[in-house]
Amino acid sequence: MSASARPAAWSRLNVFLHWSIVVLIVCQWIQGEFMAEFWDATLEGEAVNQTTTVLGYSHIVIGTLILVAAAMRLIDRFTHGRPPLDADEAQWAVMLAKVTHFLLYALLFLMPVLGLVAWFTGNDDIAGYHAFLWNPLLAVIGLHVVGALAQHFWFRSPALKRMIPGIRHST
Ligand code: HEM
Ligand code: HEM
Repeated sequence: MSASARPAAWSRLNVFLHWSIVVLIVCQWIQGEFMAEFWDATLEGEAVNQTTTVLGYSHIVIGTLILVAAAMRLIDRFTHGRPPLDADEAQWAVMLAKVTHFLLYALLFLMPVLGLVAWFTGNDDIAGYHAFLWNPLLAVIGLHVVGALAQHFWFRSPALKRMIPGIRHST
């Protein structure tokens, strides 16, 4: 099915990947400080404790999983299509949702790619750009969450329900 054909619901895979990415981002949040310490120690050839080493490597693995999951979501979205945005909704709200989704995907690709390039080249400047993008990512996620809640409580659209496993087909 092409992206222009509109299924009534997100695919099961797409919903699974959406919430998996949410959980993995929370893990990155928790591990970020450890990774920053692990990175500095690696550049300076210093030893760090076992917790920092384990959480540092797990930051790399989880970050790479986020990249793979975001790529899978996009492939699924373009092969199965996405449910339509609410036709009755204000144009500005539709545009804002589209821009927010675009920025989310852009950051979900850019952050891990910069992290991997920094790691494999040992480039501290690129690591700095990677770390810098964290706050913009949090800001866009915040906007996205407010948007999802506004869809549900203000516009009373089915957008939030159809992203929830179990009730996604009942909308
Ligand atoms: C979407 C995925 C990712 C997110 C959300 C993320 C998030 C973060 C955060 C919050 C920090 C801490 C920034 C700070 O406290 O200064 C950090 C640091 C770092 N991350 Fe990631 N990360 C991701 C993927 C990766 C990947 C795949 C790598 C590959 C090696 C990586 C490498 C690094 C490095 C090297 C640092 C240290 C940067 C510095 O201190 O200058 N990250 N990351
Ligand atoms: C780490 C946090 C999150 C990220 C990175 C994220 C990412 C995304 C992305 C990229 C899309 C666009 C799907 C597409 O058009 O292909 C999306 C859709 C959606 N997200 Fe999130 N999301 C996050 C957290 C949340 C949370 C906490 C909620 C609920 C409050 C939520 C609710 C939704 C809903 C309802 C949609 C579907 C919108 C629609 O049908 O038009 N998201 N998310």
